Amino acid sequence: MKYGHFDDRNKEYIIQKPDTPYPWINYLGSEEFFGLISNTAGGYSFYKDASKRRLTRYRYNNVPTDAGGRYYYIYEKGEYFSPAWAPQKSNLDSYQCRHGLGYTIIESEKNLLKTEMKFFVPLGDNLEIHQIKIKNLSNEHRKIKLFSFLEFCLYDAEDDMTNFQRNFNTGEVEVDGSTIYHKTEYRERRNHYSFYTVNQEISGFDTDRESFLGLYNSFSNPDVLKTGESNNSIAHGWSPIGSHSLEIELNAGQEKEFIFQLGYIENKEEEKWESKGVINKNKAKKLISKYNSSDKVNKAFKKLSKHWEKLLSSFSIKHPDPKLERMVNIWNQYQNMVTYNLARSASYFESGISRGIGFRDSNQDLLGSAHMIPERVKKRIKDLASTQFEDGSAFHQYQPLTKKGNDKIGSGFNDDPLWLIFAVAAYIKETGDYEILKETVPFNNGKKATIFDHLEASFMHVVNNLGPHNLPLIGHADWNDCLNLSAFSEKPGESFQTVSNKDNSPAESVMIAGMFLTAGPDFVHLSRKMNKNKLAKKAEMALEEMKAAVNKYGRDDEWFVRAYDYYSKPLGTKDNKYAKIFIEPQGFCIMGGIGLKDGFAEKTLDSVNRKLNSEHGLMILDPTIKEYQINMGEVSSYPPGYKENGAIFCHNNPWIMIAETIIGNGERAFEYYSKIAPAYREDISKLHRTEPYVYAQMIAGKDAASFGEAKNSWLTGTAAWNFVAISQWMLGIRPDFDGLKIDPCIPAEWDEYTVIRKFRGCKFKINVKNPKNINKGVEKIFVDGKEIEGQLLKTHDKDESKVEVIMG
Ligand code: BGC
Ligand code: NOJ
Repeated sequence: MKYGHFDDRNKEYIIQKPDTPYPWINYLGSEEFFGLISNTAGGYSFYKDASKRRLTRYRYNNVPTDAGGRYYYIYEKGEYFSPAWAPQKSNLDSYQCRHGLGYTIIESEKNLLKTEMKFFVPLGDNLEIHQIKIKNLSNEHRKIKLFSFLEFCLYDAEDDMTNFQRNFNTGEVEVDGSTIYHKTEYRERRNHYSFYTVNQEISGFDTDRESFLGLYNSFSNPDVLKTGESNNSIAHGWSPIGSHSLEIELNAGQEKEFIFQLGYIENKEEEKWESKGVINKNKAKKLISKYNSSDKVNKAFKKLSKHWEKLLSSFSIKHPDPKLERMVNIWNQYQNMVTYNLARSASYFESGISRGIGFRDSNQDLLGSAHMIPERVKKRIKDLASTQFEDGSAFHQYQPLTKKGNDKIGSGFNDDPLWLIFAVAAYIKETGDYEILKETVPFNNGKKATIFDHLEASFMHVVNNLGPHNLPLIGHADWNDCLNLSAFSEKPGESFQTVSNKDNSPAESVMIAGMFLTAGPDFVHLSRKMNKNKLAKKAEMALEEMKAAVNKYGRDDEWFVRAYDYYSKPLGTKDNKYAKIFIEPQGFCIMGGIGLKDGFAEKTLDSVNRKLNSEHGLMILDPTIKEYQINMGEVSSYPPGYKENGAIFCHNNPWIMIAETIIGNGERAFEYYSKIAPAYREDISKLHRTEPYVYAQMIAGKDAASFGEAKNSWLTGTAAWNFVAISQWMLGIRPDFDGLKIDPCIPAEWDEYTVIRKFRGCKFKINVKNPKNINKGVEKIFVDGKEIEGQLLKTHDKDESKVEVIMG
């Protein structure tokens, strides 16, 4: 069952029922001011950091769900309704929500009033615009009232939810004309405030929640809407809110428009006050006047559309399959930008307070955005590198506002260092900018280092931390956060991630070995580029040794072993009771080149197909673990079929897709792709539950009660990796150090497709023909009519080039 449909021309998903199987959200903003918005206007806004600078309040896991948002109410003759459906669950005559690139439009009709609400964050400024149009569809002149409502959060989201003994006393506001200023804590240590305004004269306001709602009411039946009269309340402590009321007269057929703005302002210490106790509003007023008319707002909206058009124009495909087109051209790339911006901080599954920017996560996200925003990617690489320790290990996470590592979680995830090599290599392959290697970014201890030094530290961290089988020590965990082999947790509530009670654990990871072999050749190449030939040789030797170790200790009969536990017993082998096979090393060892000559890669991928494939995608392991295994940790804490214990973990399915393309199996690669790509699952939205336009982290596996149900949508490495798999390995347009490699591996039945790829200043229009209907192999390539040797498109000074690729 579907709840809407794709509008590819406008690059929107149109939701036609407000009560979707889960709130289906979108993101506003892509620089410093962000908002999450659901299809019924739920969600919240923050400046830079969802944890430390939350502007409006949201209640996760509330009853009913999706509690808190940008709520509007229309009042007429003693009755009222919510034009966005929420919070009143109004019985609307029509409803639709259009989630687009960086904006959301909710349209509805009720009582012959047509409402359109457009939400977006303009480029370059720290505010959210709510552009609201109300049209009178009746033949009568009408007098209505529009009420706005949002709840201010006291900036620190965690404190806001917990420290009531203090917080109920601190709330402060100012009201000036139509603008409500939220200035809690501004008098002391904060130099920022937020404001909520509308570009019309108001008939009243409220800033105190209790006055607006009444203590025992919910958002759906505020006291103020019973009378239709605001109280003009001023918040002193308790819970500050912003609510305006507007008296609106509409002739028959008339439409009126209102611009609401929710903004964020910072003032310099010496410019904080206008007079004693009165905040300096100059910057706010300036910002407000920049967007206080429909014309100005429409222009800003156009600019935003152009911005997205440009971002997405770096890669697009023409293909007979509309689902593939909408994934590749629009939604996958859009999700890549969102994951770039927000890492794993704020979604409807990530509360904004538990994690900041993850070292491993962000490095992987960059793989999906380097082609769109190389400059920003470069900056992020430097931020990430600066949280790295001199020995190559890294803070697992850092806070975006402070750019400081999170002490609570610390370091010791031994895959982390290697992801930096993946990210830097991807950046250089995209841009050709080797200069980044020479840029200085000190280690976490302040010691001066170049980016190349960071890569060397990353590489050597593996070399210097090998276990009894010469495989990499796993530390707290590798990519699989829940495979915790170096601590045995018995205490309820203890964090599996950080507990360490088995110091000097010899547990080893075959997956890290595979990663090392995958990233290693790039490191060798970069070392040579830096004229570090001795180091390159040393690295090559280390890679050879790792290969030998994997061949010797990393193979089971028919697939790769996953790890060695604290007792140096293998995990992920046919002899284990549970989890005989894990997905991760199968993908990475093959990407790292193991088993390509002796048929082991084929055998392995057949095993993956036999054991892990399901109608909803590839499961992370099999058989699922039925009892808690203290030597394995969190992975065995999940009920079978969920999360790391046997769900379809969408993040690592593309590793298998890529491995399949390496052995030339385009059928299977694409089968796996289309099983988890959300656009292909749109028809089963009722089962899938999360948004049909973005990937979810996981889909419940076959042992779960809800096989096929997705969770954790939006912020997941799934986005970047699936884009890498489809664009670089299946469609075969792959940036490499010396050019753009053309190497498709597709289903045989595909006859033709065209990719437009902007690469190092040239727009390549690449037409791929498959006359013999094969999976892989390139017979000829013509660039602007001239046949070239090999499969590499070199950079040249032309702005545009036509490329003909004949497979064969
Ligand atoms: C999740 C990770 C998370 C970890 C923390 C895992 O189940 O997949 O997203 O980092 O739990 O507990
Ligand atoms: C999600 C985490 O963000 C990521 O870092 C981890 O690799 C996966 N879960 C798998 O555990």
